[in-house]
Order: sequence, then C-alpha cells, then structure tokens
Amino acid sequence: MSDETRGKLRRTTTVGELRLAVAAARSEGKSVGLVPTMGALHQGHLSLVEASVAQCGFTVVTIFVNPAQFGPDEDLARYPCTLEADLDALARCGADVAFVPAAEEIYPAGHATGVELGGVAEPLEGQHRAGHFAGVATVVLKLFNMAGADVAYFGRKDYQQMQVVKQMVADLNVPITICECPTVREPDGLAMSSRNKYLAGDARQRALVLWKSLCLARRAVAQGQRDGETILRQMREVIRSAEGAVIDYAALVDPETLAGVARVEQPTLAVLAVKIDETRLIDNCLLEPPLE
Ligand code: PAJ
Repeated sequence: MSDETRGKLRRTTTVGELRLAVAAARSEGKSVGLVPTMGALHQGHLSLVEASVAQCGFTVVTIFVNPAQFGPDEDLARYPCTLEADLDALARCGADVAFVPAAEEIYPAGHATGVELGGVAEPLEGQHRAGHFAGVATVVLKLFNMAGADVAYFGRKDYQQMQVVKQMVADLNVPITICECPTVREPDGLAMSSRNKYLAGDARQRALVLWKSLCLARRAVAQGQRDGETILRQMREVIRSAEGAVIDYAALVDPETLAGVARVEQPTLAVLAVKIDETRLIDNCLLEPPLE
C-alpha cells in the first residue's frame, strides 16, 4: 500500500502537523486515544490500537525507536524496522494518525531535560537496565504533551513500564487516563514481542521456557503452594532446562508496588527477564490464590 491507498490514515512527522490533526478531531468533538510504540508492529501492538479505535473517536499511534531508553550494549542499532508494513496494519485497524518523527524532532540539539523516577522504577528492570525507565518516561511524557490525548494505551506485557507510566502520571498530575491491555501471545504461549524476530533457529522453541515456567507457577499456586522460594526454585529449574537460557531475574512481586513477596497469599505477579542466547525477553503473569 502507499500513503494514498491507506484510507484515512495520515502519516505525520512533525509535532506541528500532529497537533493540527488532533485539534481538527477535537473540533469535531472526538476523544483522542494514543498508542506509543517503537514499530515492528505485531498483534500485541495492534490489540492496543484496536482498543483505542473502539473507545476513542480519533486514534494516534506513534512509531519512534527511542535512543534514550537503550543502553550502550543494547540492540538500538539492530532494532527491527518494518515501517511500510506497520502503516498498512495501522490503516487496516482504523487508526487515524501515524506519528513517525525523526530523532531530531523529539530530541532537538540542546535537549537537556528529563523525568527523574523512583518507586516502582527501582527494582527488576531498574536494577538491570540503568537509565532505561528514565528514557522511557521522558519520551512518553513528551509524546503525551505532543498529542494531548485523553487516553493512552499500554500493554501488561511490559508490566513494570506500565506501572512506571501510571506513577509518573499520578505524581506529575498529567491529564491523561492510562488504559491497561492484556498480553497477546502466540498460540504456543510465547508473548508477542518485536524482539522475537531475533530468535533464530531453535531459539524460538527454547524461548517457550518463559511461558512454561509462568504456567508452572500458576499451577503450583492453584494446587496450594504458597511459599515464594519454592515456586521460584521450580520456575528457575524449568528455565535452566533450556540450552542457552540465562536468567536476569525471576521474582514474585506485589502487582502495585512491585516489592518482593515471600508468600503468595494475595494476587501476586510472577516476573521474568531471561536471555535466550543473545536475545533478552521479558514476560509476566498474575498468580491468583483461590479465595479460601
Ligand atoms: P514497544 O515495545 O513497541 O511496545 C509498545 C506498546 O505495546 C507497549 O505498551 C507494550 O507493552 C505493548 N505490547 C508489546 N507487546 C505486547 C503484547 N504481546 N501484548 C500486549 N501489549 C504489548 O514499550 C515500548 O515500545 C516503548 O518503551 C515505548 C512505550 C513506546 C516508549 O518508547
């Protein structure tokens, strides 16, 4: 498809154009939904777009691979880019605007201000990817200010990121509602991720240990196991059974505060970050002990 054949979807590259498009929608009385992404879109992203299209009169999707959230040894240079296919998919979903800015539009020369985080940004990814969430929060706040949306859509797949954004919105009184969307998985359970493209050969099969270990934790809790260390030991065993799997962390945490939990007496989040060969994957699921 070309821009002409993508129906109502408009591609914008500047903040000025984006604001004009949103202002025109507002003048027609439409509510505005925002879906921030880094592109290489899959059904996980598109489920957020579909939620926005269903709930808001006007949907803006941003595609920007944000350099500020990648560490020096991370995959910024090889992050997948499938822009034309992304735009086709957004047109099919009924999005109104794809905002695809160049890096200089987001970070003009001299850019020097950022969001400082604490609380839910500190554990887990915060310990393993220094500066990552500061980069995420800064770009997300900028995108919120650029689009002026009513609602922004985030996936539970990146659970801690979603909590960081919710904390920022509350702490800084940002006038936007955050809508949480469920994790979309492949039929065999692997959480959809742009980084799954890196899984070469049998690494795709080995990557299933993340989901297998989360399912095992769920089963253990359903069968009455409450001891966190026992559950984590079993989860780690499953993950280590795959060749080339290295655990960054496997933890049981409170779903609101992300503080570690010793016993699963309340709904508890099981969270994982695991490298399969060179590819770092994250996943999570809620463990819900049945009510007594
Ligand atoms: P990205 O990884 O492209 O993800 C964009 C959004 O899609 C995030 O809210 C993420 O949680 C959601 N998402 C990804 N995979 C999903 C899945 N399998 N199911 C449901 N939702 C899924 O997250 C980022 O980009 C960036 O950090 C960003 C917020 C855009 C800031 O740069």
